[in-house]
Amino acid sequence: MIDLRSDTVTLPSPAMREAMYRAELGDDVMGEDPTVNRLEAMAAELTGKEAALLVVSGTMGNLVSVLSHCRRGDEAILGDQSHIFHFEAGGASALGGVVFHPVATGRFGELDLTGLKNAIRPAATNMHYAPLGVICLENTHNRCGGTILQLAYLRAVREIADSTSVPVHLDGSRVFNAAMALGCHVRELTRFADSVQFCLSKGLAAPVGSLVCGSEDFIARARRTRKMVGGGMRQAGIIAAAGIVALTEMVERLAEDHHNARILAEGLAELPGMQLDLDTVQTNIVIFGPERRQPEGPSFARGLAHEGVKIGDIGGGRFRAVTHYGLSQADIHEAVRIMQRTWGEMIHE
Ligand SMILES: Cc1ncc(COP(=O)(O)O)c(C=O)c1O
Repeated sequence: MIDLRSDTVTLPSPAMREAMYRAELGDDVMGEDPTVNRLEAMAAELTGKEAALLVVSGTMGNLVSVLSHCRRGDEAILGDQSHIFHFEAGGASALGGVVFHPVATGRFGELDLTGLKNAIRPAATNMHYAPLGVICLENTHNRCGGTILQLAYLRAVREIADSTSVPVHLDGSRVFNAAMALGCHVRELTRFADSVQFCLSKGLAAPVGSLVCGSEDFIARARRTRKMVGGGMRQAGIIAAAGIVALTEMVERLAEDHHNARILAEGLAELPGMQLDLDTVQTNIVIFGPERRQPEGPSFARGLAHEGVKIGDIGGGRFRAVTHYGLSQADIHEAVRIMQRTWGEMIHE
């Protein structure tokens, strides 16, 4: 089976399993797990922040971050296509009373800057508005197809945020993909954010875990918030050990996934009647779908699964294919052949 549904389907590498087996452990809620402490120090250093905190998932990382920036009743400005808004069960609203204020998202995952400026309302001068607690960005952007927020854009958002003294949180679940594609250090991207959450369990192929990074003060608040949402783990070094391997051995190979995504996208773009925006294929995600919403859509995904290729159905007649560790270039060529054959049979039926 060639499973292209997500980069979360990756299995830990042999080196990760070995590291997990041998991990030195302690009680992390008491701050005594040496492996967790090592991973957190690495994450802080990589992102250029004072401190870091291991959490269970990207969702928990974003939740803990937003709740640590905001008080109950505060507002979080975020993209109307963002993962936090769409796919995290409304956690910050439901659990923390944070009001989501969505702003239109552009083709590459950027919040429209005019929309962003308009969304920032004069603080405390008008009793009608919820106070602004945080601005959230996403890099790379999942629903836009793994697209990258460029340095100039991040700088522009930072200036807007500074002009109103509001913190910026970066959902950097795949920020290492962004850095790899831009050819820069990840710190050059994270420096524009006050807090960042990145995932170990996507392209970096670890089984579990995300890191929240920020100032000492912020991470102290986040640690308490993590406890509040039940995310304090005990011998979490088991997880952290795989995370350390992910950060040391799995970052460079992301370039392979990007190359494979390009091969896949170019193969798909040749299918007659298939719509795909090649400019948005910047990292490891390919989004595509029939030009017109046709009944072929769902049966295409079913037909592919029958032939040994799994893709994700993201609704609205669109599909997602994600390249990742465990899939070779030969697998991708094979997937393209199967897609071309299945699509050809379907449209000629
Ligand atoms: C951009 C983005 N943010 C957050 C998450 C949530 O991560 P998790 O599935 O680990 O909760 C995902 C997961 O796909 C994501 O793509």
